[in-house]
Amino acid sequence: RLYAQQIQQLLANTGVSPQQIEAIGTHGQTIHHRPDTRYPSTLQIGDPNLIAHHTGITTIADFRRRDIAAGGQGAPLVPAFHRAVFQHNGEDRVVVNIGGISNITILPGDATQPVCGFDTGPGNVLLDGWAARHQNCPMDKDGAWAASGSPNQELLTQLLDDPFFQLPPPKSTGREYFNQTWLLTHTLVDMLPPADIAATLCKLTASCITTAIRHHAPETTRIIICGGGIHNKTLIAQLEKLAAPAVVESSERYGIEPDWVEAVAFAWLARQTMEEQPGNLPSVTGATQPVVLGGIYR
Ligand SMILES: Nc1ncnc2c1ncn2[C@@H]1O[C@H](COP(=O)(O)OP(=O)(O)O)[C@@H](O)[C@H]1O
Ligand SMILES: [Mg+2]
Repeated sequence: RLYAQQIQQLLANTGVSPQQIEAIGTHGQTIHHRPDTRYPSTLQIGDPNLIAHHTGITTIADFRRRDIAAGGQGAPLVPAFHRAVFQHNGEDRVVVNIGGISNITILPGDATQPVCGFDTGPGNVLLDGWAARHQNCPMDKDGAWAASGSPNQELLTQLLDDPFFQLPPPKSTGREYFNQTWLLTHTLVDMLPPADIAATLCKLTASCITTAIRHHAPETTRIIICGGGIHNKTLIAQLEKLAAPAVVESSERYGIEPDWVEAVAFAWLARQTMEEQPGNLPSVTGATQPVVLGGIYR
């Protein structure tokens, strides 16, 4: 009901009628995701029956389970959209989504080469927690606090020593792993000024991203950023420095606001479903073949 109400509110606010909307693509809220068990499963809540019923708009949902049925991880799904929008023949590009966790999509300039996508490690999750603790803010707005400190190289080296960063892709991680408990296992954290820790955390995120690109897509010349992390100017400045000579730019340059890329991706996946086109990339999810994803609720 909450999703349906939000959609009705959005339509009212923008003066768009339900008849003008072809379909809704709704990912739902993941409450369970175990693709690697004997009986692989994933569950997103936010019932599409209710959404379709209360909005009167055809709703596509449950995008992940068909990929799992085809032997895939059911994730990540957004890289197929990244390829559709950002892939460019003759230029190796990487799309970086910086949210709580960061993930990248490698888009070879040779379209016959497989697309690859994986989590690189923390995005803003550690800095958010650190800002909550020391600044009483849910985030370091625009990276201003981090800009007032200096990265500590010794701590950075210790943080980068985590085994996750050495794992080969495909790999994924989450807030269950990269959190304040993880950060505080590094004793240097207690000894440095909090603003220096904030600066170090920005550099950590930037380093994980650029190291992954250097290892897995060394010919990359263009890095396209999306996700809320783009608003952290200190982080982006670090990323530009470490990624040079590759160009770092916002997804906005390609017509999609960085905060909306994920939402637009699920609208695109819904369109793929409506057109009976596959939505997964086997090279990314590990599925045996491309499959049409999701269920249609009319
Ligand atoms: N103005 C801002 N300044 C700094 N960071 C921001 C700002 N706005 C959003 N963020 C960061 O963006 C993150 C959320 O991005 P988002 O892409 O929505 O993440 P997720 O998909 O993981 O929820 C937050 O962790 C926050 O740190
Ligand atoms: Mg996100």
